[in-house]
Amino acid sequence: MRRAVCPGSFDPVTNGHLDVVSRAAGLFDHVVVGVLVNESKRSLFEVGERVEMLREAVAELRLANVVVASFDGLLVDFCREQGAQVIVKGLRSGGDVDYELQMAQMNKALAGVDTAFLPTSPAWAFVASTLVKEVARLGGDIDAFVPAAVAARVRARVAG
Ligand code: PNS
Repeated sequence: MRRAVCPGSFDPVTNGHLDVVSRAAGLFDHVVVGVLVNESKRSLFEVGERVEMLREAVAELRLANVVVASFDGLLVDFCREQGAQVIVKGLRSGGDVDYELQMAQMNKALAGVDTAFLPTSPAWAFVASTLVKEVARLGGDIDAFVPAAVAARVRARVAG
């Protein structure tokens, strides 16, 4: 069985993330979305909230072979725990390449885990969690970039 991990901060999940997860679900038997418990990074949402939003989105998309879990520590250790041979990441633009390539090579060197890159669909190439939060904070409309339930939570959080 081919198992893959789609890792990230997902603060919050965007339509771009879901595009990559959906396509990974078509390529692998089982996909684990790994949500990083990044204590050091100031996130808008607690890890439990980020996992909940992802689970709701995955259920809505009826992705039966996708599960969501949080992880702490090294991504390659999480991959081993989950029995995953491959990490799947999206590439939005050339700007992503240097950073992603370096991480992929480190993960390969650490544990022999390969990374498969999926080019983000053009419709979502400019969408990033950071920008979604900034637009929401400044009163802009984020409905086109994240699932409706996520948009509502972001609006409520930035307003509070
Ligand atoms: O959504 P992001 O913030 O781009 O995701 C980055 C992530 C979670 C994939 C990366 O920070 C990560 O793998 N962190 C876990 C710690 C780790 O394994 N570090 C070494 C990576 S080479």
